[in-house]
Amino acid sequence: MRPILGLESSCDETAAAVLDGDGGVLAEVVLSQEREHAPFGGVVPEIAARAHLAAFPEMVGRVMQRAGLGFAELGGVAASAGPGLIGGLIVGSQMAKGIALAQRLPYVAVNHLEAHALTVRLPGLVEGGASFPYLLILMSGGHCQCVAVEGLGRYTRFGGTVDDAVGEAFDKVAKLLGLGWPGGPVLERLAGRGDARRFAFPRPMLGREGCDFSFSGLKTAVAQEVARHGSGALAEGLAADIAASFQRAVVEVLADRACHAMAMMRQRDPAAKLLVVAGGVAANGAIRAALQDAAAGAGFRLVAPPVRLCTDNAVMVAWAGLERLRAGLSNGLDFAPRPRWPLDALAG
Ligand code: KG4
Ligand code: ZN
Repeated sequence: MRPILGLESSCDETAAAVLDGDGGVLAEVVLSQEREHAPFGGVVPEIAARAHLAAFPEMVGRVMQRAGLGFAELGGVAASAGPGLIGGLIVGSQMAKGIALAQRLPYVAVNHLEAHALTVRLPGLVEGGASFPYLLILMSGGHCQCVAVEGLGRYTRFGGTVDDAVGEAFDKVAKLLGLGWPGGPVLERLAGRGDARRFAFPRPMLGREGCDFSFSGLKTAVAQEVARHGSGALAEGLAADIAASFQRAVVEVLADRACHAMAMMRQRDPAAKLLVVAGGVAANGAIRAALQDAAAGAGFRLVAPPVRLCTDNAVMVAWAGLERLRAGLSNGLDFAPRPRWPLDALAG
């Protein structure tokens, strides 16, 4: 296989990467739009699309230059084509299609969730390679689900959130505590200084059959607690205790849901022994530690790719493209990006 170029623009990261035919990273760039969106306390779709459009031409040139390649030397071009914010998806897809058309290269419309799901198969990440089947828990600002990854394009969703994604819950609670956006990392730091036993926040879905999640009730409970302390800024100790108590509730829920998901996985595929986490929330140390314990208790091995590969990036998109091209799969240039594109829809 010749090298592949991958583009990511489904949310607020603009990213490009070039992999060689074996999946080795030749060059990669990730540009976060955090500063553009922070004043609004969340991602503004129109701003995101325009920022992708402004960044891509120079970024793609730079990544190719760093890889030491001309476009004619590529074997394919891949871009996230959904799910995500449609403006950004269109920008990245058109960029990839333009290059593919000009160079007569195969184009791959990558499902962003599939890219997260396959990241762990990048060469060198897991000793001996991550072979199918394995269990994936995807936890980000936009997604929260447990999926059996049984082969390329073969995914079974065991459960997911019925309301907010877990990263969204972190962001909303951080906002309530006046921590800015995105809130996950700051909230984790603050929680490290707080007393997790001070507030008995609810643990939604804990012990419930299956592995669905729910976080909106927990967020509401935090909002009520914050409101009880008046309208001004919270004292730092109090904010830290709320953050710690909230994070503890999330950790317990995630560990419980993971245990259920691993039992479901075992029943379906007795050979499965890997629990893989992906998404920005996988950066959280308390969550990683709890999932590590849960996995060990269930006879699974937890694999958490390095944080920069857990959050949105283009290496994972290029890799998913490479896996698809190797399997003889590519897409027509008439493929329309899809704001909604569940993983199970890839089965076929
Ligand atoms: O995967 P990601 O970079 O972007 C998407 O949402 O697709 O994930 C970002 C999310 C945000 O909600 C952010 O607050 C959360 O991941 N996050 C964390 C931590 N780092 C990032 N949540 C909890 N603890 C963290 N350390
Ligand atoms: Zn993502």
